[in-house]
Order: sequence, then C-alpha cells, then structure tokens
Amino acid sequence: MENLISLVNKIQRACTALGDHGDTSALPTLWDSLPTIAVVGGQSSGKSSVLESVVGKDFLPRGSGIVTRRPLVLQLHKIEEGSREYAEFLHLPRKRFTDFSAVRKEIADETDRETGRSKQISSVPIHLSIYSPNVVNLTLIDLPGLTKVAVEGQPDSIVQEIENMVRSYIEKPNCIILAISPANQDLATSDAIKISREVDPTGERTFGVLTKIDLMDKGTDAVDILEGKAYRLKFPWIGVVNRSQADINKNVDMIAARRREREYFSGTPEYKHLAHRMGSEHLAKMLSKQLENVIKTKIPGIQSLINKTILELETELNRLGKPIASDAGGKLYSIMEICRLFDQIYKEHLDGVRSGGDKI
Ligand code: GDP
Ligand code: NA
Ligand code: MG
Repeated sequence: MENLISLVNKIQRACTALGDHGDTSALPTLWDSLPTIAVVGGQSSGKSSVLESVVGKDFLPRGSGIVTRRPLVLQLHKIEEGSREYAEFLHLPRKRFTDFSAVRKEIADETDRETGRSKQISSVPIHLSIYSPNVVNLTLIDLPGLTKVAVEGQPDSIVQEIENMVRSYIEKPNCIILAISPANQDLATSDAIKISREVDPTGERTFGVLTKIDLMDKGTDAVDILEGKAYRLKFPWIGVVNRSQADINKNVDMIAARRREREYFSGTPEYKHLAHRMGSEHLAKMLSKQLENVIKTKIPGIQSLINKTILELETELNRLGKPIASDAGGKLYSIMEICRLFDQIYKEHLDGVRSGGDKI
C-alpha cells in the first residue's frame, strides 16, 4: 500500500511538470482523479502550522496576515530508517535541500517570483517533495487563507479569488479536507466549516481540526466540540496545540512542541479522556489511513480514466502523424508514457493480488 501512495505522488508530480494543474489543460486531467489532502480555513487559523506538525518538520512560512499566497503541493515520501532527510522542489530539480530553513526561504522567494512582492495571490502551485524516515506517505496542499476583506495593496476581488481557488481544490471528490478552525473564535463563524460543508455536505471527506485550544478564554473549554456535540462531523474532531508566535520567535523545535502538545492533552483534566485521539501525530495517522482507503476505492476509476486517456491520445497522435516535433506533441508523448507506466504497474499490482501477494 505504501507503494501505491507513492505511485500516486509520482503521477501528481508528472501532471504538474507537464503543465496540467487540473484546471487549464485541454487533455482529460489525470490530476482530477487522484486523492489529495487540502488544508482550508481562515487567515491565521493555523493551517501552515498544522501541516508542519503533520510532517514533523519546520519548513513553511508562517505568521500573521496572508503569508501563504500560492497553493503548495507537498509530497511526503518515507525513506529508509537512518537515511538523511532532504527536500526537493519541482522548479529546482537538481537541488537537494537538507537545510529546512532554506526550504522556507525558497517557498517565500518562489511565491514572490510568481506574484511580485505585493500581496497578490496566484493559483499556480509550488511543488515540494520531502524525503524522510520520519514521515508517512502523503500528499498535502497548503492553501491561502480565506478572508473577508482585502488588505492594502490587494484588489477587492481578492476575497472571491481566494475562495474560488480554495474551492477548486476542495470540491474535487477525491480531496480529503482538513478544515481548520481556531478554538478561540466562535465555531459558527468558521470559514473552514462553511466552505467544507458547501462542497462536502455529508462530511464524508472532511476532518475537523481545532487549533489554538491553548488560547481559549479562561473558564471555557473545547470539550463539546471535540466530542462532536457542538458540530457533528463523520470523523471525530481532532484538537491540536501548535506553536505560538512567541514559540516560533524563540525557535522552539518540533520535537519539543509535540511533546508539549501530548502533555497538554494528557495533563489537562478536561481533555484527559480524549488525549488518545488528540494531537498532530494522531492526525497524521488518521490521514494516512484515510488516504489509503480512498486510493483503494478509487483505483478502478483511475484505471478506466487512464485507459480512456491512452486511447484518446493515440487517436490524436495518429491524426497528427508521428513523429511530432511540436511542443504539443511532446506533451502528449510524455503523458502517454505516464499512462503506460501506470497501466503496467497497475497490472503488476493485480497479478500480485491474484497470486496472494500485496505488491502495491
Ligand atoms: P495560517 O495563516 O492559517 O497558515 O496560520 P499559521 O500557521 O501561519 O499561524 C498563524 C499564527 O497563529 C502563528 O503566529 C502561529 O504561531 C499561531 N498559532 C497557530 N496555531 C496555534 C496554536 O494551536 N496555539 C497557539 N498558541 N498559536 C497558534
Ligand atoms: Na497566516
Ligand atoms: Mg499559511
């Protein structure tokens, strides 16, 4: 199963490399049929912080205001125990980053390259892969925060633009939604709940994540929400305690932050009975499990889409006459190669299942 997730990761990378972001391409988009996990919520609700703790690594720009201005497609690849972890960007294919603060800087720089230094946004994703013994195989998407008003330097249309961009990612039936709501704001005003309910009314693919539990007013707690009494979701709510801005400024590391998070839930009388299903590590496990389930149920669909794509591409190539020197032709060939690869691996997978093994 691990291999199946990493295969899906590879196909997603290939699609983006070929300029298929799932919205513009005239070709049937493979991308649209592949499972992903996207993070949605209001500005500064803690989206980037949650992603970082799921990954167990510091590498994302975080802070107040609109920091995330382009979608970040983040692929986690589990590698052998003891290997050195590193990161790679799709736009810098030959560069291995072992310094994760340099990764953060590159995300910020690459955001500026596309949007200018202004507070504009862009729907063109940045692709980042992290290879580490300490992650589970997952594809995650960090999205700009939903907002109610434009800030200086931004056109008024930005509110709607962000909402449309976020919706374009989370409305896909294969997208698992991490809906982030801060515990120090009224849940009824949560942007995350509002938009995720719109695209997933039955809550079948929405995980409710409650951040900033440590910042709630004295005398109040989040027990009703975490027990699913305030707002019911199909999956149980998961509470997290991320690092505060002061922690970030003091460079509190991830290991210490996770330990403190565990201690927070097991050491607070109100939350003690829920501690086993709270925190970032539990969230990462649940996500991996859910992604696996989605891939398993979606494989026949992905397969039929790919068969159709190969057929259509072959017809198109025959019509144009081979070999093709143009860019369009090159693109078609590359996608065909991916389809063939997928097809071949899928058949091997089926053979493995038939002979009782579990190759993928
Ligand atoms: P995003 O805009 O939704 O991506 O939010 P960020 O992850 O950038 O976080 C915004 C700010 O809230 C940062 O200063 C974080 O340190 C802080 N923050 C996020 N989650 C928590 C939390 O659970 N507890 C506390 N105390 N601060 C948090
Ligand atoms: Na922010
Ligand atoms: Mg962010």
